[in-house]
Amino acid sequence: MSAPHLTGRPAWRALTEHQRSIGALHLRQLFADDPQRGERLVAEGADLYLDYAKNRVTDETMVLLQQLARECGVAERIAAMFGGDPVNSTEQRAALHVALRAPVGERIVTQGVDVVPQVQAVLARMAAFAEAVRSGTWRGYDGRAIRNIINIGIGGSDLGPVMAYEALRHYSRRDLRFAFVSNVDGSDLAEATRALDPGETLFIVCSKTFETLETLTNAQAARAWCLAHFKDEKAVMRHFVAVSTNVEGVARFGIAPANMFEFWDWVGGRYSTDSAIGLSTMVAVGEDHFRAMLAGLHAMDQHFRHAPPQRNLPLLMALLAVWNTNFLGVESVAVLPYAQYLNRFPAYLQQLTMESNGKHVTRAGAPVGVATAPICWGEPGTNGQHSFYQLLHQGTRLVACDFIAFCQALDPLGEQQDLLVANLLAQTEALAFGSADHAAQPWRACAGNRPSNTILATRLTPHTLGQLIALYEHSVFVQGVIWDIDSFDQWGVELGKVQAQRIIGELAPQAEPALAHDSSTNTLIRRYRRQRHI
Ligand code: F6P
Repeated sequence: MSAPHLTGRPAWRALTEHQRSIGALHLRQLFADDPQRGERLVAEGADLYLDYAKNRVTDETMVLLQQLARECGVAERIAAMFGGDPVNSTEQRAALHVALRAPVGERIVTQGVDVVPQVQAVLARMAAFAEAVRSGTWRGYDGRAIRNIINIGIGGSDLGPVMAYEALRHYSRRDLRFAFVSNVDGSDLAEATRALDPGETLFIVCSKTFETLETLTNAQAARAWCLAHFKDEKAVMRHFVAVSTNVEGVARFGIAPANMFEFWDWVGGRYSTDSAIGLSTMVAVGEDHFRAMLAGLHAMDQHFRHAPPQRNLPLLMALLAVWNTNFLGVESVAVLPYAQYLNRFPAYLQQLTMESNGKHVTRAGAPVGVATAPICWGEPGTNGQHSFYQLLHQGTRLVACDFIAFCQALDPLGEQQDLLVANLLAQTEALAFGSADHAAQPWRACAGNRPSNTILATRLTPHTLGQLIALYEHSVFVQGVIWDIDSFDQWGVELGKVQAQRIIGELAPQAEPALAHDSSTNTLIRRYRRQRHI
């Protein structure tokens, strides 16, 4: 017998009924009725503290959401993911990013192979390479040490590395310069290499497939830049390394297998920060800090697997996301880290959440029938306060917010940490409770009742960063389980790639092929061709 459709599940029906009765309740009321709410609706996992009291939920909401999780088989799907089953069903692959941070001795088997020893072997090679670059024993072609590291990749092969580098910059080597090139717009590489000395520059080419147009184009351009200086193909070996699953593709590019760091098809691009894709991070912060990040990821994996549902952070965050999206009509989630070092975390989460759960059919191919991934966006606080928070407080859309903060500053500067955290607390309060009545001046009124989570940790360390990454990875996974979608494929990005390939040839000025697009695209192509060389 096939599983009932999501909206037909008893818990979903009960939640629909329940929403009718509590949907209009204001957070002011919920807090007034329960003075302990802010102490009760919290949970701790590893070193992260989650306050979800400022969500529009009651105890009954949480009970029903937990019931929904049981009815959707969340526990079974968690076991399947950790067990190496092909949970990426449309591609018939496991999604075993949890193996990337499994400690030595743990066994994680997929297709009959324990992958943990492979992971550890690559980690050891990464560590040796990172140390060689950091110590200056890795020499460029003319014998000088490396001072500039440029990561070339896009999507998960860029957003994870740049996010982790920025997040852990406090722990990074300051005499090494890092840049991250992703865009096929030549300005990205041009700016990254401007004024650099090729003899002191190392490129890390990151691509799971080693087929991605942007990355291969930039890598070829970087190669030409390097060879224009050295005029000897052998220089490539000293200035390029690759991270990929595609040994042949890397060899075709001219990078020796000895300079390739491997990962596997069971690591999704957006789940790869802690694989060899994190090589730039390891060069920046060193092996110990990188391993501390892995330990943080693993600590959250353990929490996710073993903590009771009522205290399970990724599960709670996922259920709240489903409640907000499907029952309160929330269409977007703002991630607001009050930590400048986390400035790329929202962009990283954008790919993680939207590429994973921006899906319209179930694993069986039927319409999901309810809203799936909300739009994810954000900026560090306090900057966002002076730009888009106006809409959060008084706009006509309901936006759910994730606030992230740390109790200890990494760069203490007078009272600035207090100013930072005071602002975060003020915002969560203002969003939840709004302003006093301004009947005579309605433009001043803030209605409040806007839901938010607050995630608090002691300090931004490699370990807490790892926990934060795994928290969101697993929350995204659970949301996908509830919606019964494949959170590990990304077929939606293929169509645009195919069409771009076709159009590339049509843009050449000498070519005047008959254009067979729609009239808008045809006209834009002709206009581009005319203006291209003006
Ligand atoms: O086009 C989307 C995508 O496949 C992402 O899922 C991935 O992270 C990115 O492109 C880069 O892919 P690759 O690492 O294979 O170059």
